[in-house]
Amino acid sequence: MMRNSSKKSSKVQKLKKLPASKPDARLADAEQYLLPTYKRQPVVMTHGKGAYVFDSTGKKYLDFLGGIAVNALGHAHPRIIKVIRREAARAIHLSNLYHNAFQGPLARKLTEWSGMDRVFFANSGTEAIDGAMKLARLLGRHPEAPAGAPAKKHRFLALENSFHGRTFGAISVTATEKYRLPFAPVVPGVEFVRFNDVADLESKFDDSVCAMLSETVQGEGGIYPVSEAFWNRARALATQHGALLIADEIQCGLGRTGRYFAYQKFPTKPDIALIAKPLAAGLPLGSILTTEAVASRVSPGMHGTTFGGGPLACAVALEFLSIIEEEKLLENVRASGAELREGLKKLATKFDFIREIRAEGLMIGIELSVEGGPFVSEAMQRGLLINCTHDFTLRLLPPFIITKAQVREFLKLFEIVLAKTPKQAAAPDSAKSAVPQGAAHAAERG
Ligand SMILES: Cc1ncc(COP(=O)(O)O)c(C=O)c1O
Repeated sequence: MMRNSSKKSSKVQKLKKLPASKPDARLADAEQYLLPTYKRQPVVMTHGKGAYVFDSTGKKYLDFLGGIAVNALGHAHPRIIKVIRREAARAIHLSNLYHNAFQGPLARKLTEWSGMDRVFFANSGTEAIDGAMKLARLLGRHPEAPAGAPAKKHRFLALENSFHGRTFGAISVTATEKYRLPFAPVVPGVEFVRFNDVADLESKFDDSVCAMLSETVQGEGGIYPVSEAFWNRARALATQHGALLIADEIQCGLGRTGRYFAYQKFPTKPDIALIAKPLAAGLPLGSILTTEAVASRVSPGMHGTTFGGGPLACAVALEFLSIIEEEKLLENVRASGAELREGLKKLATKFDFIREIRAEGLMIGIELSVEGGPFVSEAMQRGLLINCTHDFTLRLLPPFIITKAQVREFLKLFEIVLAKTPKQAAAPDSAKSAVPQGAAHAAERG
């Protein structure tokens, strides 16, 4: 089936190619009919191949954003295409009222990777977060307590500078006010702990806490890893107070840091780990992984989903996990990540507006003392996709299949971008707020 793939992709490119000068009616439609939830770049992306993406004018971009950590295998991976073709012709959706051929085997594989016991499949990261919050509230109730009686153990602790998604539960534990406050009142009982601040954590933890939630490496917040001291204390306090420790691995999990799960660098495990983004190689699939102790409180009807864990998405996810193992991609994540970091550290000695490089595997933040947005636009013009988070941190999330040559190509292009971008001085207050307190020890000076 793959015989003509290269011929086909050049045909796709030809069909979609529009002269750069001609206005694209699809942009006007988007402008007029979409809810304005994104400040999108004025390009129509049409397709990709490996670590490259192409727009409707035929322009090629080196993709160091990977669909914000989704496209871990890049684009159009032949094994993923093959499984999608095969399974789409068999069954795209089968109800969760029945078993399908892939959900059980995928759950087994994920428990092997994570060290957890049980799995629930959702459709996105935010849904996995909301499901985990429901589990925490469920576990916080005495099993004999009358239904509807508010449980004493109901509070959530989350971290300052966190991002967990866009549904009501997820925004309630997301620290950034612009995502949360316009929709108040949110889920009650949430308190934010200063990042990596053990004393603040200790002062807020008591028997009324049902769960402590944390990204193991904060992504949207600017690539800040939770410290081992903080993790260990959170684990101990959760156990002591009968609360759940929930690791949001939606952006940092499934290989991104060079381990299956970012928490595997610590000596202990969470009670719940959440994954999504790269799990089904671009198809929507999220997952809650948990222990037998948590699972033992769940009964049919308490939670569910129409689409989650469908046969097509699960078949693709199983293939994704096999590819990671068989193509030894974690080794590549570690090696390419180290090479990228070294290259970036060299660039930081040339450009004094680079304040810090923070990196774990292929999850990299480059903190600037000037506004990051103009660098993203300059990079795009020069055929490079990167992103800026919290105004001052350039974020790189390249695919796990990135080659040494592509790392060199990136560094060359990025140096030009750093040199040519007009620098906009940062407002002194906003520059400071980009750095969570207690994070400095985890960062590396460039
Ligand atoms: C750490 C983290 N948690 C949760 C989410 C929400 O995931 P989704 O957009 O799939 O709902 C994201 C998305 O960026 C994320 O980075």
